[in-house]
Amino acid sequence: MKLKLDGHSTALILEQTDDDDIHWSWFGPASLAEMATPAGFQRLPASPDQPVGPSLMPGHGRGFHGIAQIEAFCATTRRRVQLGQPELRQNGDALHIAARDDHLGLEVGTTFKFQGDALVITTTLNHTGQSPIDLIRAASALPPAPDWANEVVTHAGAWGREGYEARRSWTTGRVEQLGRGGRPGFDGGPTLSLTEAGAGENRGRWLTAHLAWSGPFRMAVEKATDGSAQILAERRFAPGEIRLEPGEELDLPAVMLTVSESGLNTIRRALNTAIRSMGRSLVRPVHFNTWEARYFDVTEAGCIALAQDAAGLGAERFVLDDGWFKGRRNDQTSLGDWTVDPVQFPNGLGPLITAVQQAGMEFGLWLEPEMVSPDSDVYRAHPDWVLGWPQEPLPTGRNQLVLDLALPAVADYLFESISALLDANEISYLKWDCNRDLYPAMRDGIERPGAQTKALYRLLDRIRSNYPVEIESCASGGGRIDAGIARHTDRFWASDATDAIDRLRIQRSTGLIMPHERLGAHVGPSPNPMTGRQIPMSFRVLTAFFGHFGIEADPGHFSPDEKAVLQRGIEFYKSHRNWMHEGQLVMASEPGDDPDVQLLVSDDGARAFARVMRIDTPKRPLPSRVRLAGLTADARYNLVEYALAGDPVEWPIGEYSGAGLMAEGLALDPGRALSGRLIYLERTA
Ligand code: DGJ
Repeated sequence: MKLKLDGHSTALILEQTDDDDIHWSWFGPASLAEMATPAGFQRLPASPDQPVGPSLMPGHGRGFHGIAQIEAFCATTRRRVQLGQPELRQNGDALHIAARDDHLGLEVGTTFKFQGDALVITTTLNHTGQSPIDLIRAASALPPAPDWANEVVTHAGAWGREGYEARRSWTTGRVEQLGRGGRPGFDGGPTLSLTEAGAGENRGRWLTAHLAWSGPFRMAVEKATDGSAQILAERRFAPGEIRLEPGEELDLPAVMLTVSESGLNTIRRALNTAIRSMGRSLVRPVHFNTWEARYFDVTEAGCIALAQDAAGLGAERFVLDDGWFKGRRNDQTSLGDWTVDPVQFPNGLGPLITAVQQAGMEFGLWLEPEMVSPDSDVYRAHPDWVLGWPQEPLPTGRNQLVLDLALPAVADYLFESISALLDANEISYLKWDCNRDLYPAMRDGIERPGAQTKALYRLLDRIRSNYPVEIESCASGGGRIDAGIARHTDRFWASDATDAIDRLRIQRSTGLIMPHERLGAHVGPSPNPMTGRQIPMSFRVLTAFFGHFGIEADPGHFSPDEKAVLQRGIEFYKSHRNWMHEGQLVMASEPGDDPDVQLLVSDDGARAFARVMRIDTPKRPLPSRVRLAGLTADARYNLVEYALAGDPVEWPIGEYSGAGLMAEGLALDPGRALSGRLIYLERTA
């Protein structure tokens, strides 16, 4: 039996063959789906008499030594879980496979469904038996790796330096990307791509898997000596973390799988579109954030002055970052005591919010609800509320401990503290930070990071369903960016790096998964506090232009010329954001290329911005032509350069075909280090 599922232009074919196994016969362009066949399997000497080839829902015990769907054990009956023959069926626009361990009563069901061109795979465990079952591991998905794949691509990074592409050649054995920290982390999180040597943004085959989960994870590919290969995506369990009691059900995190025959841009589009459809559609106001302008030194008078300056530049939302609550003057104190500091803000937040509103902006507030400082009233009153309690001493990170959100008293305390702030003040936005990993994520002697992740999702939902607030997910910058938390939040802080050169790399890699309009991109100070680099305002503005635009610096330190450039950039952003934020980010250059060339193409393809960013001095005075990407080959476009300084504001370039712009390109290299060009393209035919 063969069952087919169609995405936008991708198809999946699963097939149950005579041996009763379920095979993955096709995952690729729908136009080529006639090529679907289950891999033939050769029986060799010294191998099982009943051949066991690659199949879905594999188990051990028949001679298959790859990755099993599930590894679990029942201590009462001393039996390990062994799934029987799976069944395949179609239900409307979904395919299902299900298998059962008849002795233990455990059922495993996997559903495959397209969201555009992203195949979303969800797996549920349902315990219908009599005795508890301890899970060791359970795959959300175990699709086969295509045999053209000979490279694995992930991202590496650390705080403030996220987003370095990491490629490894892969011919045999296992490559694994593990997240143990309890947040996805700075090194790309639960995303893993397979590709073929030489593949890039606009060429070659790619397959990318992303796990929609913000806790510990395991992403891997493994190739056996017989040539079969599996892709593993799963939530990682700590020993003893999951005991399924009779009657219990466990939903494993969803996996998003995308495939492309023509480069990574196709993958980016599929993942961005699927995640966009899971979230709310919002008009994204220009942010002003106080952090890099003031750090902890926030006072009523100082913030009112900042707000007025920010509004003068064109900001539409003022976000009061860290430092506003009781006793918080540095990072050593007060997390958990979510009341307004009576010294810095003697009249509460009211006068600042009024000033912000009078300046025409909305007000947002920073919080770090999952954390507590040992030096806080709440910790002194409830030392047993933290993960790891009663271990002594508990390891701190950024001088703080982690609250156990799975404790109802803690979740209620946080909901009530946040509600009190939202009830008393007109706050339309929360920047929700999380500045350390979970260690030990322990309660009653067992690590439970997954319970913490699920409790966080519940708390975010509880707040959003009771208050009309938008929530930004921040974790020391880009430490928690994944499709799991994307369902519960509205925006991400991509990195604490505001250096525009670093940001080009970081936004490119983060934007592989997250739609660009959800990624906060702020104009920072120069010299940059992290790198010391002096970067012209125009370069900083253009870098922020392809994200959710903001400012994160003291406007008092900007020269009149810098202010004028910033104001003009904000005007461009405001007049184009509606289509830009529904459009698609397309890379026309490879990671690390100079110039960095990216486009934002509108949903209907009628317009686009091309941004060309030159980082270093070109090696030769005659630079290469700049080729664009993501345009319609047989369309024609009128090109106009938007200038951030001087007159006129718009410079005509000419009219060209999409095919010509993509194949031959134009002389658009800015030609000088640290300069960029912004070209507006409008389709004429
Ligand atoms: C880390 C965040 O990434 C910064 O933007 C800022 O909010 C600080 N935390 C505040 O402590």
